[in-house]
Amino acid sequence: METVRVDFDDLIARLDLGTKIRLLTGADMWSLPPIPEIGLDRIVMSDGPIGVRGEQWSSADPSIALPSPTALAATWDRDLIRSAGSLLGQEARRKGVHVLLAPTLNLHRSPLGGRHFECFSEDPYLTAELGAAYVDAVQSCGVAATPKHFVANDFETDRFTVDVQVSEKTLREVYLRPFEQVAGRAWALMTAYNGVNGTTMTEHAGLVHGVLKGEWEYDGCVVSDWTAVRSTEAAAMGGTDVAMPGPHGPWGGKLEAAVREGRVPESVVDDRVRRILRLAERVGALRVPGSPPAAPVDREFVDGPALVHEVAARSFTLLTNDGVLPFRGAPTIALIGAAASEARVMGGGSAQVYPDRIVSPLEGLRERAEVRYALGHDPRIRLAPIASPARARFLDEDGGVLAEHPLPASEARWIGQLPSGVDGDRLQAVRLLTTYTPGVSGEHELSVAGVGSFTLTVNGATVFDEVIDLPDGDPAAFLSPPERRVTVPMTAGETYELAVTHPVGAFKGMALVSFTLGHADPNPGEEALMAEAVRVAAECDVAVVVAGTTMEVESEGFDRTGLGLPGRQDELIRAVAAANPRTVVVVNAGSPVEMPWIDEVAAVLLVWFPGQEAGTALADVLFGDAEPGGRLPTTWPRRLEHCPVVNVTPVDGAVPYEEEEFIGYRAWLRSGTEPAFWFGHGLGYTTWSYDSITAGGGAVTVAVTNTGDRPGREVVQFYLADGADRRLVGFDVVEAGPGETVVTTVFPPERSFQVWEGRWRTVEGEHTIVAGPNVADPRLSVTMKI
Ligand code: BGC
Repeated sequence: METVRVDFDDLIARLDLGTKIRLLTGADMWSLPPIPEIGLDRIVMSDGPIGVRGEQWSSADPSIALPSPTALAATWDRDLIRSAGSLLGQEARRKGVHVLLAPTLNLHRSPLGGRHFECFSEDPYLTAELGAAYVDAVQSCGVAATPKHFVANDFETDRFTVDVQVSEKTLREVYLRPFEQVAGRAWALMTAYNGVNGTTMTEHAGLVHGVLKGEWEYDGCVVSDWTAVRSTEAAAMGGTDVAMPGPHGPWGGKLEAAVREGRVPESVVDDRVRRILRLAERVGALRVPGSPPAAPVDREFVDGPALVHEVAARSFTLLTNDGVLPFRGAPTIALIGAAASEARVMGGGSAQVYPDRIVSPLEGLRERAEVRYALGHDPRIRLAPIASPARARFLDEDGGVLAEHPLPASEARWIGQLPSGVDGDRLQAVRLLTTYTPGVSGEHELSVAGVGSFTLTVNGATVFDEVIDLPDGDPAAFLSPPERRVTVPMTAGETYELAVTHPVGAFKGMALVSFTLGHADPNPGEEALMAEAVRVAAECDVAVVVAGTTMEVESEGFDRTGLGLPGRQDELIRAVAAANPRTVVVVNAGSPVEMPWIDEVAAVLLVWFPGQEAGTALADVLFGDAEPGGRLPTTWPRRLEHCPVVNVTPVDGAVPYEEEEFIGYRAWLRSGTEPAFWFGHGLGYTTWSYDSITAGGGAVTVAVTNTGDRPGREVVQFYLADGADRRLVGFDVVEAGPGETVVTTVFPPERSFQVWEGRWRTVEGEHTIVAGPNVADPRLSVTMKI
């Protein structure tokens, strides 16, 4: 089909100032307003990065859930990330989304960063390469990717106001590098909440106009983080093109007045409109008035669950193994831990999506083996929602039913938009209704988690009627709100009618409904649970403990305060390992945790936040049908106090990046402290020899041989070595059968040999390149002349 180039100037000339300015602020939580006169459709945005949530923040609109970005990065595989990106593009098209708000390209500066799980790596080059693959793949589906958050949003504490103080050299060589790599390709980009060197990022003319749009010639659309635009002129002049969400905000009439009074040139507004029109054209939302919407891009269908399963297995990172894995024969398995029956498959905050199914480790392993499950200990602070189908009833002021919607579980959440058919002006209350039939008699716990007023009834009798206040701090707390509990006697086999009623008042354009009805069976007591797990472990051939972080630990809106596993999980692991020497610990966390028991267990498999197919992928890897393909994209410390960078708490409103470019493995190498596991580490089920290395013509070539007795996959890593300092300059995933030798060639990028001195200077001369299976295990070395 012939593409007709749209004359943006002509379209802009047809719009009056008010219309142009209206286009620069969201029409609602997730979209830009349509302008039918010029053929511009509504442009719809949605969060990623692990799925496409769509316009509803609700399980009523399910999405495929991939593993979280630390897991994606652990594959080190650009092709696999491209497949994941294509799946996301497909999901976006299915949901009518034009702009995916992802990938997150901030760095793992400190393991305390609350959104660590949502970023790829501590290494700027690995982040840049995987980010570029992600962006290309999403956009090949005709959907814009939006790398975020530009720039230095590497922690959460006081994120709206904090000023990051960072040298130009560090910015250029480290934090800007992933953004530089995607600037030539991403159709949209998001500015961060924080400030950098005294200026908040939505107003940062130096970085947005100067570097991004100027030096890097970025022609895409710069979208603010949600509510990050807080000024009229400064943000308008600072380079942010679109203020999200809307329709209210600091632009609108105030910006129109600023233009009319000559404080903001109209050309500034026109440039923003041009960028929005270019974005619209790229995503098929701009067409000749009256013509039908663009036909979907013709692409091969991606089987979502199958791909999620593959990516999960490829990301699982085997940290230690005394030979217990893969399991041989048909062992009986003692499966232990709260996360074994309800795995945490994603981190919290805006990265959340609602998959229509989640395969738990318990379900996955039961398909394969005789499994005996014991809870052992539950570290979660909040009770889990009741997993059976529920209904949400939307009521007007007389109690009349405006609409009713089915829910897969007892979790009610609509942020930004109410479900279709619900009139926000008439809505007075949301009622969640479900039934529960206990399997055991006794004192059951019920909980309400939410903000506002709630009444909980059981068979019509009120058991809870209170107002729950929002704790101070970040509004992201709405996504993991405070919880209150009540104890209710219940009899096994009887069915109970449960209802939570939540008055919401009238919405001013933006819905905010977020509450959960939780439940827990009668608790026999902490010690009894632990003892039962130990007994089950002793009676089985192997024990698998699934241990991990909770929503109170890894989520948007706050940073972590420690790296210990929450609750008594360390104690549980030690007790189980003492009862069964064949104990495998499965770590279910998106970012580093301390593992003080590491030398007492037979194997440790890190499964990250594994996405919706957690259990099937786990069974494959434990039984050896798939190799654990992951390699750490970030150095894992033994203890928090060993970490080179821990300052994520502003002092006088600022966080100085005093460590400069030394984050991650570069800082560890410099400090001389041994971490628990180095960047790049991960075991497979076979072994490799590194045979030879050559350099020439800008390329480095390595030959490796699979010296084990089964096929395997190796991530060959190339580092620029300068004394004790190392920098990743190339990597490749190779596969080989037993005894087979494979050769891989990489081309280290020019940037890797450059330093920032007010401009890029290439360090000419002889450079040493080492190759190996992780940053601290150089197996081969060669000299390269630049
Ligand atoms: C997050 C962004 C996200 C946006 C919309 C913000 O709080 O920082 O990453 O895209 O919300 O949900």
